[in-house]
Amino acid sequence: MEHGQNRLGLRRLGQSELMLSPLGLGCWQFSRGSGLVGRYWSNLDEGAILDIVRASLAGGMNWVDTAEVYGGGKSEEAIAHALDKLRQEGSPHAEPAVATKWWPMMRTAKSIPATIDERLRCLGGRQIDLYQIHQPYSFSSVASEMKAMAGLVKAGKIRYIGVSNFSAKQMAEAHRQLAQYGLKLISNQVKYNLLNRRIEQNGLMETAKELDISIIAYSPLQQGVLTGRFHKDPAQIGKLSRIRRMQSGLDTAGLNQSRPLIEALGMLAERYRVTLGQVALNWLITYHGETVVAIPGASKLRHAEENVGAMSFKLTPDELALLNDTSWAAVKPRT
Ligand SMILES: NC(=O)c1ccc[n+]([C@@H]2O[C@H](COP(=O)([O-])OP(=O)(O)OC[C@H]3O[C@@H](n4cnc5c(N)ncnc54)[C@H](OP(=O)(O)O)[C@@H]3O)[C@@H](O)[C@H]2O)c1
Repeated sequence: MEHGQNRLGLRRLGQSELMLSPLGLGCWQFSRGSGLVGRYWSNLDEGAILDIVRASLAGGMNWVDTAEVYGGGKSEEAIAHALDKLRQEGSPHAEPAVATKWWPMMRTAKSIPATIDERLRCLGGRQIDLYQIHQPYSFSSVASEMKAMAGLVKAGKIRYIGVSNFSAKQMAEAHRQLAQYGLKLISNQVKYNLLNRRIEQNGLMETAKELDISIIAYSPLQQGVLTGRFHKDPAQIGKLSRIRRMQSGLDTAGLNQSRPLIEALGMLAERYRVTLGQVALNWLITYHGETVVAIPGASKLRHAEENVGAMSFKLTPDELALLNDTSWAAVKPRT
């Protein structure tokens, strides 16, 4: 499976030389149940993580996305460990591009150079291809943060710079600041999926296209909702945390509102002999040409095997438009 299931080819991230598969592996799920945000997911063991990483990379993904805050380095370490194992197995997929993030809250930009060696250590000395500012909230200005990030590029500690959860204005400011160092902002990682289209309403998508900055879509499956599994079996919802239910619109009104979209996904899934989640991911990485790449997370091997299959077919313009229309009806504010 040299090329796995990726029939969509590689795409350039922003104005960089990074050529990425349209889907990368989201690694928040590898936080080992620890740290500030790591308890959101259950604690996956090393074997489960290795299976997920192996299947994702063999299936055609060529990059992974992690963060300092995912278990305070535990997710980065888990990836490094899995990739070491793949190297030992002689896998041709053991060297994916690596994206990680600096956590800015309650910190100043001084911590960017102060913590980079710890990031590199957690990643087992692997190159950081994309280093992202995780949130726009810190004690420092965007200008100071970009100065510190540019310093890391000059020092050869990271290859490219991205941001996450930045508004259109904040993103354009980061881009402008980097220009004085002869660098570009190449990506903004934000929540984006068929049930959350805020970035098309607040000017972010438009600005990203204008500036040639890629959008990295997180929660691309709306944390599982777009696979249809909660519509099919609402009893599963009761097992989720309150915060996840609220974030994903998992109540009776939310399920009713998204049902027509789930039905449209089901109709297309049948046509292509794929799953609903694969259709939802395929829409996300094709509707805006090459502007959007996405990073589905997986907590089970079968999720990983299924998610890579979203790169194995191409919806037609009519099908993309149908999902677009049905999606807008599903994201309308509830009355
Ligand atoms: N920059 C940021 O602020 C930010 C924020 C959030 C996420 N992220 C990144 O984006 C990645 C993905 O986002 P996310 O994890 O929030 O949402 P997601 O990718 O939409 O959902 C992942 C969850 O959906 C379920 N799932 C995945 N594939 C499935 C399949 N094929 N069939 C059935 N269920 C499936 C699993 O839930 P169960 O585990 O419950 O089975 C999985 O843990 C994260 O790993 C992280 O790297 C970044």
